[in-house]
Amino acid sequence: MRPDIRHAPLDPNDWPDLARVLGSCFGIPAEKWDSFRSRLGDDNLRVAHVGGQVAGGLGIYRMGQVFGGRSVPLGGLAGVGIAAEHRGAGVAGAMVGDTLRALRDDGVPLAGLYASTQRLYRSIGFEQAGNRVAWKVGLRAIDVLDRTLPVTRVEGADALRPLYHPTHGNLDRSAAIWERITRPRGAESWCYRVGDEGYAVLGTEPSGVSDFHFHVLVRDWQAHTPAAARRLWTLLADHSSLGTEARWFGAASDPRIAHLSEQAAEIIGLQRWMIRILDVAGALTARGWPAHVSGELHLDIDDPLFSENAGRWVVEVAEGRAHVARGGSGSLKLGIRGLAPLYTGFYDPGVLAELGWVQGDAATLRTAARLFASPEPWMSEMY
Ligand SMILES: CC(C)(COP(=O)(O)OP(=O)(O)OC[C@H]1O[C@@H](n2cnc3c(N)ncnc32)[C@H](O)[C@@H]1OP(=O)(O)O)[C@@H](O)C(=O)NCCC(=O)NCCS
Repeated sequence: MRPDIRHAPLDPNDWPDLARVLGSCFGIPAEKWDSFRSRLGDDNLRVAHVGGQVAGGLGIYRMGQVFGGRSVPLGGLAGVGIAAEHRGAGVAGAMVGDTLRALRDDGVPLAGLYASTQRLYRSIGFEQAGNRVAWKVGLRAIDVLDRTLPVTRVEGADALRPLYHPTHGNLDRSAAIWERITRPRGAESWCYRVGDEGYAVLGTEPSGVSDFHFHVLVRDWQAHTPAAARRLWTLLADHSSLGTEARWFGAASDPRIAHLSEQAAEIIGLQRWMIRILDVAGALTARGWPAHVSGELHLDIDDPLFSENAGRWVVEVAEGRAHVARGGSGSLKLGIRGLAPLYTGFYDPGVLAELGWVQGDAATLRTAARLFASPEPWMSEMY
């Protein structure tokens, strides 16, 4: 029997129970979930009840994600948790499925998340669509020393926001995401600007070498000129008396390490974020496309959850925008899952065909490859 799911807004009376459930799911004490609640707002918290009891819940970060240079509205799902005694009964699947429907009805064309169990999310149409790559470099291995530009300490997200230039796959950050970066729960952070050319948000974590040694956690950093990049590397190197290494998240092809003379930086972890296309026409028309690319692609989509997405579509791309209409030959057949990595450019259509996630003749796959060719989609944030 389908579990009895009740939806947002959260009844404030349910909060203590939900916080306790989420605490037990994530190993984070109940009282520490208050910042999650205040960042998202009760309207963006959903609760699943089973037999009148709070069995679990989730939160939604309302934000955007940049594809082809345009921000596409995104519902980022976080804190998906079901109490241990209610697991294995389909509660999470039903709760997330209903949340996806509510987001779609709200006009949000994309949902995203980081999956702890991929099987759950694949079953409702999510697929891997981009990278979050963990990097580290020993601070003494940083050989870029250039203090020509001044670095200044600044307070809070407002001082950084104008310098954040999101690229393909990056979040169009909401206030809640900025707060996670600049005011992390239970930790300190320091924000720096290099004039109008770059910025960094730094934190620390014990490195275990002694009570005083630490890793520098680069929560966020962007440099828009070579001089600003050198200044930020120097800022990191200036922590090397007690700091052991710098750690950050970026793309697998992170260009920042090209400033170092040697290949001293190492990849130490990889997470792949997932996307669910909630509204095929909405998602394809909202994103940007390279201005020089034009062409027409005929899709035939299978979507067991949203019949509005299923069937044939003609996607016509010209002058940086797509026009999407019903009809066409359906020469590229794909499930809604396969559309996610195609949409973000994470996998080439030829690779998707080898995976069995799309089917089409060679000419169709070539057209798809030309239209969806993009830089590596990545993001630094976890949400
Ligand atoms: C992950 C979690 C939310 C699943 O809740 P649940 O109500 O038991 O999940 P469901 O019963 O709806 O399962 C839906 C599908 O996911 C699969 N699934 C659920 N938990 C899984 C696990 N730990 N490993 C692999 N697959 C799993 C189920 O088998 C089912 O797939 P199927 O229909 O193909 O059999 C729950 O175990 C939990 O709260 N874990 C701790 C917190 C967490 O990891 N949250 C997810 C953060 S993204």
